[in-house]
Amino acid sequence: MAAVVRRLTVPVSVDALVARFRAHEAKIGVIGLGYVGLPLVRAIADKGFPALGFDIDAVKVGLLNAGGSYIRHIPGEVIAGLRDSGRFTATDDFARLPEVDAILLCVPTPLTRQREPDLSFVVRTTQSIAPYLRRGQLVVLESTTYPGTTREVMRPILETAGLRSEEDFFLAYSPEREDPGNDQFGTSAIPKVVGGDGPLALRLACALYDEIVAGAVPVSSVDVAEAVKLTENIFRSVNIALVNELKVVYEAMGIDIWEVIEAAKSKPFGYMPFYPGPGLGGHCIPIDPFYLTWKAREFGLSARFIELAGEVNTAMPGRVVDKTMAALSEHLGRALKGARTLVIGVAYKKNIDDMRESPALKIMELLEKRGAITSFHDPYVPEIGPTREHPDFTGRKSTPLTAALLAETDVAVICTDHDAIDYQLIAERCPLVIDARNAFASRGVVVGRVVKA
Ligand SMILES: NC(=O)c1ccc[n+]([C@@H]2O[C@H](COP(=O)([O-])OP(=O)(O)OC[C@H]3O[C@@H](n4cnc5c(N)ncnc54)[C@H](O)[C@@H]3O)[C@@H](O)[C@H]2O)c1
Repeated sequence: MAAVVRRLTVPVSVDALVARFRAHEAKIGVIGLGYVGLPLVRAIADKGFPALGFDIDAVKVGLLNAGGSYIRHIPGEVIAGLRDSGRFTATDDFARLPEVDAILLCVPTPLTRQREPDLSFVVRTTQSIAPYLRRGQLVVLESTTYPGTTREVMRPILETAGLRSEEDFFLAYSPEREDPGNDQFGTSAIPKVVGGDGPLALRLACALYDEIVAGAVPVSSVDVAEAVKLTENIFRSVNIALVNELKVVYEAMGIDIWEVIEAAKSKPFGYMPFYPGPGLGGHCIPIDPFYLTWKAREFGLSARFIELAGEVNTAMPGRVVDKTMAALSEHLGRALKGARTLVIGVAYKKNIDDMRESPALKIMELLEKRGAITSFHDPYVPEIGPTREHPDFTGRKSTPLTAALLAETDVAVICTDHDAIDYQLIAERCPLVIDARNAFASRGVVVGRVVKA
């Protein structure tokens, strides 16, 4: 019976929807208003499209509708401006999904405790869409994931209500390339790779993204688009592991890796600088490579290169702590146990407030396990929020960076080199500094006892 009904149904007009995208008249829904979804909403509304944001977090929804924000680089005034222009509303009511012409999913894709892909957010969100999916809608997954997710996991759920991909609705994958805090490349300045679950979905998704960002880059399938995102992030993870390894090797030879990289990058081709550090952080680089290693196992393959990079990078926080212990003994003649340590920077990278997977927290944990007394200073993180790995640190507050604090500190450990930190003061007042970011030399601060880690 369903098949008869479907044959009698008027075909969806893809041309009409393409025209609505081109005219910026289509209403766009974004599900998951976090670090990726909120900047995306802003880019969409800035181009004149009406945008409807969905999130299960009622507190976030309330704040946005009141003209507030919880993401540092998207000020509340921007949200209030979009709301007042009538181009943006947030909701936690999924029954409003039929209002929109396109649904873009930006929900988390973390790892489980066993370090396997956790697709529960993608699955739950897709299950929330399915009952409201209507004919003629475009659905695009933007979350980072392994090849096969859109086709194997999302499509069957979306088709449970009887609608068919490429006939009734259109399904695509387009990975987000957001780089929080990057002033040079905001959401709309970055081209987007697009793969469709068929030619119609590809055409529609390209038509939409061509209007929002600096161009769509079509590829032949959703699987290819999923692989593109993982490749970009694995490229970073492996190259960071390489310089982390080179750092250790060169240090034993009395060679400074930072000086080596500075000189190597004068080569105008065939070399791209990556920098060593205290370990990987953020929602992407420490996590995404393991989406591929997990999927590779299904094909009887082990992605050894990627696993090795993970191993090298994961060892870095321990190395910073070992260096701290050795430097305390060598320069101050004291043990790490009982030493007052000040961790500078707990966000995972400079000039932002995101501390997800931050190696600074691992370093604090290891310091405390060895008996050190720790405090931290971070101008962007006044208080440590809840994290899965370090629940004990929740509620700890940033200590103001004063000459008095530094005089009482045995060692400061630079984990993140925010620009808004007074490095001169630290170098002058603190008896010992461990620098995992080359923060002092790169700013020409030459006083004090600074040991690179
Ligand atoms: N943060 C980055 O820099 C970055 C960059 C590129 C890609 N990504 C990828 O983008 C995706 C989203 O990451 P993020 O950093 O924006 O995450 P986030 O945690 O900042 O935001 C996710 C949002 O989704 C909401 N949410 C969770 N489940 C939901 C559901 N069932 N329905 C509706 N809303 C739901 C959460 O409340 C939250 O507001 C991930 O796959 C990530 O790997 C992130």
